[in-house]
Amino acid sequence: MQYPEKSAEVTVPIASLLAKRWSPVVMSDAKIDQKMIDRLFEAARWAPSNYNEQPWRFVYATKDDGKEREVIESLLVDGNAWAKSAYLLIVSFTKKTFAKNDKPNRMALHDLGAANLSIALQATDMGLVTHQMGGFDHENVNTILGVPDDFLPGSMMAISQPTDSKGAPAELIQRDEKPRSRASTVIAFRGKWGQ
Ligand SMILES: Cc1cc2nc3c(=O)[nH]c(=O)nc-3n(C[C@H](O)[C@H](O)[C@H](O)COP(=O)(O)O)c2cc1C
Repeated sequence: MQYPEKSAEVTVPIASLLAKRWSPVVMSDAKIDQKMIDRLFEAARWAPSNYNEQPWRFVYATKDDGKEREVIESLLVDGNAWAKSAYLLIVSFTKKTFAKNDKPNRMALHDLGAANLSIALQATDMGLVTHQMGGFDHENVNTILGVPDDFLPGSMMAISQPTDSKGAPAELIQRDEKPRSRASTVIAFRGKWGQ
């Protein structure tokens, strides 16, 4: 299978980037230029946020980053070991309190989600593939990466050049061959819940 070529079975037309983005588990260690990586974080920087707080922060390592990369890989749960093949691994964090007054920012995780999706869509636009993961060591990630306590970990993201599945483990290929799916087409109610 050539990546990325899976598209969503949408009920009505949506923006092509949204339809094209999907989360493969077969990933490549082929280099992604630093300029492209910079563009991913620039996309995150322009995400919308509550009071324009921009609470998102990222720690990342590429396959060229040696020991630092190994440390980030070690955070992954076994079920996400496939992500170690990806050239780029990102860990995302969000600041739990407002910079201006230290009060809790209830939208912090929400806004990090917007930033992470911005990264995923920017990557899709540049022909890369992305896969977010909640399966990593949330308890110890701040200590391991030297991140201050006021930052809450969000998701990790594996990003790679598109690749074919040649030589990949059969169970990963099977996962990637399954069509994208969504539980329900009814998620929005006009005027009142349930109608
Ligand atoms: C916050 C978050 C956490 C996720 N955690 C994992 C994970 O730990 N392992 C995994 O294989 N996929 C994980 N995923 C990927 C989802 O399973 C995937 O996005 C979903 O099945 C929809 O598929 P699609 O992204 O191809 O549309 C996660 C996605 C998000 C947004």
